[in-house]
Amino acid sequence: MKIVLTGGAGYIGTHTAVVLLQNGNDVITVDNYSNSTEEALRRVMLITGKPLIMYDCDLRDERKLERIFRENGPVDCVIHFAGYKSVGESVTHPIEYYENNIHGTLSLIKCMRANSVGSLIFSSSATVYGMENLSPCRESMPRGHCINPYGWTKWFSEQIIEDTVKADRSFSAVILRYFNPAGAHESGLIGEEPNGIPNNLMPYITQTAAGKREKLIIFGNDYSTPDGTCRRDFIHVMDLAEAHMKAAEYLMKHDGLEIFNIGTGMPYSVLEVVDMFQTANCVSVPYEFGNRREGDIPECWADVKKADEQLGWKARRSLSDMCVDAWNWQRKNPDSY
Ligand code: NAD
Ligand code: WQD
Repeated sequence: MKIVLTGGAGYIGTHTAVVLLQNGNDVITVDNYSNSTEEALRRVMLITGKPLIMYDCDLRDERKLERIFRENGPVDCVIHFAGYKSVGESVTHPIEYYENNIHGTLSLIKCMRANSVGSLIFSSSATVYGMENLSPCRESMPRGHCINPYGWTKWFSEQIIEDTVKADRSFSAVILRYFNPAGAHESGLIGEEPNGIPNNLMPYITQTAAGKREKLIIFGNDYSTPDGTCRRDFIHVMDLAEAHMKAAEYLMKHDGLEIFNIGTGMPYSVLEVVDMFQTANCVSVPYEFGNRREGDIPECWADVKKADEQLGWKARRSLSDMCVDAWNWQRKNPDSY
């Protein structure tokens, strides 16, 4: 297959590119490097020993995007990763988030249809289940009320894709709702590159273990969970990458729209993650308990039956693997790429 990855230079895009190239696909990345570097893509080629085609292009530049599709046609499938992803930043800069994530999605879909490309895989998030759906989250649950603009951009993008599929029988899509991606490629050559102070748990842990942060603050230990800290469904980024390969194969055989949760189905608490990280890597992660973080829900994990039965995909890697690979990436790249 010839597959276009928007946002292909980012954290999940690079890992997915590795899996796609290793499975004999042609990969074309379209990225404006607003949160990534070309070096990440050079590392993808180093890991796989295969070339890929990369374009420096903002998705909202419809003319340039159109040229890329024309020059590289026929494209079999598009995986749409590009977008801003920081929850906190979306609260302080909502317009930039709606502008980039929604306009980017609209521009891409228009270009795909103009070039008769009818298969789209979209990076959505467990955040669309909102506060009111209880875990395990099932794809059949109605989307919930999002608590930040980032979440709404995923909610609206899902709706835009759903409406396009309804209106155009030649356009099909798979929406993947990721739970909490973590870890890195086992080579330690590619991984997550947080911008400034990390918001997410795993990069905060790795930077604390590396001595770049003094200590981890665990946001709340008075939740109604077994150890009082929040529980999440952490999914290894390489398992997540493999889910995209399965989704692309699925789209070649099925029409319409399907939504799949991509998680392990197994929640771990924040304290369990910290303990596992320390044990698996024999390092210390200083931490203390702090106040709850606004907007956090006590528990969130996936029902993963649908992905198993229909996509033929299941997570294979453990929380220990995520901790080991995240630490390997941090140690080999103390200042990122
Ligand atoms: P990332 O920031 O590492 O990758 C996104 C890429 O998109 C970056 O390389 C960035 O430069 C690029 N980009 C942003 N706006 C663009 C534009 N207008 N035109 C072209 N390129 C643009 O993020 P990631 O962690 O790899 O996430 C990929 C996707 O998965 C995002 O849509 C994100 O919202 C979604 N997602 C991520 C997580 C997570 O925890 N990492 C969880 C659920 C969903
Ligand atoms: C996990 C747990 C924190 C940092 C977010 C987005 C979601 C998706 C994945 C994109 C929580 C606790 C964290 C710290 C802590 N992203 N924590 N101290 O909030 O589950 O999900 O990322 O789509 O949309 O909302 O992930 O990694 O931020 O937090 O105690 O310094 O770790 O309170 O319980 P979250 P996270």
